[in-house]
Amino acid sequence: MNLTVNGTAHAVAAKPDTPLLYVLRNELGLVGSRYGCGSGLCGACYVLIDGRPMASCDLPVSFAVGKQITTVEGLAAKGELHAVQRALIAEQAAQCGYCMSGIAVSAAALLAANKRPTEAQVRAALDKHLCRCGSHNRVVKAVLRAAHE
Ligand code: FES
Ligand code: FES
Repeated sequence: MNLTVNGTAHAVAAKPDTPLLYVLRNELGLVGSRYGCGSGLCGACYVLIDGRPMASCDLPVSFAVGKQITTVEGLAAKGELHAVQRALIAEQAAQCGYCMSGIAVSAAALLAANKRPTEAQVRAALDKHLCRCGSHNRVVKAVLRAAHE
């Protein structure tokens, strides 16, 4: 199968029902997307599929063939961090950081669709992302900061 990840085409050997997350991490070495629950319930593994945030832990890799996959590694363009990444750092939003790659891609998708979201819209967009460190309020502050950069 051929996958397009962060704008680059890759031939992968995985079976069609292998979770996309495993292929990204184990075959392509893109370890920014994390394994949390493995059941689509925590948000740690989120990537963008044709710009839409989706859990990659329970998504068969075959679903992503022919689509544009963006991982957290692909958010930075031309060596410059995405506004969301810069704001997460500026607000010191991460504690352990395990949840942050999924949050970053979902927040980037939100801002791509809505440049000036309200706080309620940010909270709704990130509702599926759990953070065991309790960083939610700082994450929301960071996304609103990125929206006003
Ligand atoms: S690891 Fe995929 S949603 Fe939790
Ligand atoms: S910063 Fe630790 S899980 Fe979110």
